[in-house]
Amino acid sequence: MNLKEEIEKLKKEKNAVILAHYYQYPEIQDIADYVGDSLGLSQKAAETNADVIVFAGVHFMAETAKILNPEKQVLLPDLNAGCSLADSCPPDQFEAFIKEHPGHTVITYVNCSAEVKALTDIVCTSSNALKIVESLPKDEPIIFAPDRNLGKYIQKETGRDMVLWDGSCVVHEAFSLDKLLELYKKHPDALIIAHPESEEHILKTANYIGSTAGMIDFVKKHPKKKFIVATEVGILHKMQQEVPEAELIPAPVQEDNTCACSECAYMKVNTLQKLHDCLKNESPEVNVPTSIRERALLPIERMLKLS
Ligand code: 13P
Ligand code: SF4
Repeated sequence: MNLKEEIEKLKKEKNAVILAHYYQYPEIQDIADYVGDSLGLSQKAAETNADVIVFAGVHFMAETAKILNPEKQVLLPDLNAGCSLADSCPPDQFEAFIKEHPGHTVITYVNCSAEVKALTDIVCTSSNALKIVESLPKDEPIIFAPDRNLGKYIQKETGRDMVLWDGSCVVHEAFSLDKLLELYKKHPDALIIAHPESEEHILKTANYIGSTAGMIDFVKKHPKKKFIVATEVGILHKMQQEVPEAELIPAPVQEDNTCACSECAYMKVNTLQKLHDCLKNESPEVNVPTSIRERALLPIERMLKLS
């Protein structure tokens, strides 16, 4: 049996489901039961009947699945699948920050640890952040963490009173504006689509700004077009599968970047072999201490209700 067949067999034996993010390697996306953005993945995790959830994504995503499903086993192919954005918000420092700004509603982007979620009023993702902020009364002051670029974008779109945590994603801050403009000169017929974790100067060039799922939907609406795609390059796999006629060009990154295109090193530690091994060995497993889990659940449930 090859690796894929073995994974399918193990999946049936263990009543497991494989959830994968768009930034995973193509072979992982192709074997997954569901591929999606952070919101779609947490919705699937909330409704699954499987006994085992294999999360082909990063740690905070698997943690969110575990918070929603304490009785299920949640597996992550490699525990090193972290996130620079989640790391940029240490819980103790965030707790002190909240104390410095009393009377604020705390909204955190899902890319953060369970401990940070436990300090939060409502969680959001890039696909529902605007909706969630707008669901609050107009004069309500807001703390938004951890992504300053997404925060700035929401602040600009909604005009809300927001204090921003100064965190960011290394992958989305790697795009080069000069190179992007040079590329656009060569492809003036292209539409630029960008993830809101990108910096303001990149977002200013974009014809569409949205979550990974939102970007795919936008491309579907313009199937014969050419697109410059400013997010992690793994998304091109599903985008091209969904819209074969579209021409997709990854947005260029700065000179000093180790990769010519924007790859998330955390997402890419997961491999098909590791996915197989974690399902076979039922390890590594992601667990969340009960006291944190109980406090982190409510802000996630509030988000799911509002989505
Ligand atoms: P999405 O929810 O848009 O897929 O974003 C997840 C992520 O990690 C972006 O870097
Ligand atoms: Fe985190 Fe950025 Fe990787 Fe997304 S792309 S998982 S925000 S480091």
